Amino acid sequence: MRSHRIAAIGGDGIGPEVIEAGLEALRVCAERDGGFELKVEHFDWGSDYYRRHGVMMPEGGADRLRSFDAIYFGAVGAPDIPDHLTLWGLRLAICQPLDQYANVRPTRILPGITSPLRAVSGPELDWVIVRENSEGEYAGVGGRVHRGLPEEVATDVSMFTRAGVLRIMRYAFRLAQSRPRKLLTVVTKSNAQRHAMVMWDEIAAEVAAEFPDVSWDKMLVDAMTMRMTLRPQTLDTIVATNLHADILSDLAAALAGSLGIAPTANLNPERRTPSMFEPIHGSGFDITGKGIANPVGAFWTASMMLEHLGERPAAERLMRAVERVTADPGLHTPDLGGTATTRQVTEAVCDALRGAND
Ligand code: IPM
Ligand code: MG
Repeated sequence: MRSHRIAAIGGDGIGPEVIEAGLEALRVCAERDGGFELKVEHFDWGSDYYRRHGVMMPEGGADRLRSFDAIYFGAVGAPDIPDHLTLWGLRLAICQPLDQYANVRPTRILPGITSPLRAVSGPELDWVIVRENSEGEYAGVGGRVHRGLPEEVATDVSMFTRAGVLRIMRYAFRLAQSRPRKLLTVVTKSNAQRHAMVMWDEIAAEVAAEFPDVSWDKMLVDAMTMRMTLRPQTLDTIVATNLHADILSDLAAALAGSLGIAPTANLNPERRTPSMFEPIHGSGFDITGKGIANPVGAFWTASMMLEHLGERPAAERLMRAVERVTADPGLHTPDLGGTATTRQVTEAVCDALRGAND
């Protein structure tokens, strides 16, 4: 029996609710498969922990995660604690030391879900966004001086290294190569940002030479929002900087019907450290505790985690179960315009898994 150790961090807001739902589906996946088990350990890190201890996670927290095979993460952020403290105290405090440099965000329109784009019924929108996840605008370089004085100054320096850009470009080209269309769009802003973004473009061109079978093009990030909206079928794999991809992935999720569905993987592709899997939607304070959070993002995320753990048949079975459930509008949560609860959707996915005959 294969065994995988999972660190579960529900975190804030609806995070614990959707992670519980996801773990329930994962247990059923393992039973249905019969070839593996998941050993789950829970960590109560997040904003409640911060209120008790003054930190989002204990000292050495990220190091405690190193021995796990994967991290299943809910959300971070609370209305009464500044966002930069919760983010840097937990999510980035895990992603950065564990060097999860490739953030992968697939987007497609699942059965039963309606895109806000009039001309899109489903197959026209099937993308994977690769987000640089270790540096760029999130490098944390900068500072503030003359605090509170009229001459106060603040800087956030976006920092790009050749090694960091090379590895994310290689990852993106390899991913594009593995997909049927072998098509990559490199997002940039080298017309206005004439140092780092020009290096970004140059490295893209260098790496492209290593992948002669991948067609690629370059898009300025502003024009990219138009292309995603007006010509979604011309895109497949997309690579962008930390901030550009952050923004574009929210647009992608909205165009695919709901942020409640969108998954992410924070990968260390070389597997030197555990990778972290999280739904994109965040902590959703407005619906916390109401039992109506959409667990589909957490399920899709769980499927990416199974795939990373080498459990591809189980990963695919889970996605088929999710698609069977999204196809039924009676099982849509309020973010999709329905009235279903987290519980109902979770039970339906678990039932579909148990009844799966493939
Ligand atoms: C995301 C989120 C985060 C980010 C927030 C919570 C800081 O928007 O994962 O896309 O900007 O990275
Ligand atoms: Mg975001």
